[in-house]
Amino acid sequence: MAFLVGLGGLYPAGMKERSMAYAPLKEVYKDYFYIGAAVKLGEYNSTPFYQAYGERLLEHFNSFTAENGMKPENIYRDGTYDFTYGDRLVRYAREHGAVVRGHTLVWHNQTSSLIPGKIPKEEAKRLLKEYISTVAGHFRGEIHAWDVVNEAVGDGSQWRTSSPWYQSYGGPEYIREAFEYARMADPDAKLFYNDYNVVQPGKRERIVRMLEELDLVEAGLDGIGIQAHWNLVWPSVDEISRTIETFASMGLEVHITELDIDCYDGNPSTPQMEYTPELEERLSRRYAEIFEVFRQHKGEVTSVTFWGLTDPDSWLNGFSGGRFLKERRENYPLLFDGKGDPKKAFFSIINW
Ligand code: GLA
Repeated sequence: MAFLVGLGGLYPAGMKERSMAYAPLKEVYKDYFYIGAAVKLGEYNSTPFYQAYGERLLEHFNSFTAENGMKPENIYRDGTYDFTYGDRLVRYAREHGAVVRGHTLVWHNQTSSLIPGKIPKEEAKRLLKEYISTVAGHFRGEIHAWDVVNEAVGDGSQWRTSSPWYQSYGGPEYIREAFEYARMADPDAKLFYNDYNVVQPGKRERIVRMLEELDLVEAGLDGIGIQAHWNLVWPSVDEISRTIETFASMGLEVHITELDIDCYDGNPSTPQMEYTPELEERLSRRYAEIFEVFRQHKGEVTSVTFWGLTDPDSWLNGFSGGRFLKERRENYPLLFDGKGDPKKAFFSIINW
């Protein structure tokens, strides 16, 4: 087989030509919202990210999120800051006319380098202020939207009380402070609260309660990030609509921040499935109905980001239903296959 060598590495001859035959996602949706992808920029030292991702990323996406590169565990160690990954992503985005979603400043996961567990409150307050001022300050003017706080609301109760931030503060005030510090450090970035299961009525209500109780809009919050780790059957399009409308009616922007569709419907024990034409069809219809809802909420949904680019690179090959799998299981959650070719789902969202 003949290959072409391009920015994106090796591609079978013909692929580039074929890729010209359909409209780029970012063009199709330019009057609706940003189209983003989470990228593994710089996370593999031996494989520059553009060998695996560059071509598709630049062709279809105008918003980039670092999948891991801008989380505290990759920025902060022993009191020192390392902005290598974020700087590279910001530079790359600027060179190619894309925006960057900053992900994430305050979280309970992947943060042990910063706050390993419960620490004295005064120390936690000092750290929170220093970390946000330093990081959001470093990227000031370069970040379109920050996920300032990620996953601080509980699944069955109001707060995620196991968070080291919650434990150290002895309450949720760290959330409001985080928005205040982010607003001071980068006055122009849009500031988001980001979470999963936002479409679940109980959690949605708890998020609304948090916004009111902590007066987060006054502290600088601009919008809500709906992660959208969804599946073929959940959530219903009605629930998605209701959720967008709930936040839009409060004057907030809605970003879809981590979209992917688990083809195992959140069941970790289902054996590996082949990507049959039936499954391809179901996935394609699912993406079509979801994007129809997003389009209906033009002006309210202002950014849609996929959590990855190609199926083999998705975290869902190792995670399902809230837990990590013992063995890799091929999942098919995204728009591009392992060769970088668009799947039927891709065509279902560009032709409607
Ligand atoms: C959450 C986080 C993301 C990512 C995913 C799994 O949704 O917000 O950063 O870690 O889990 O990849």
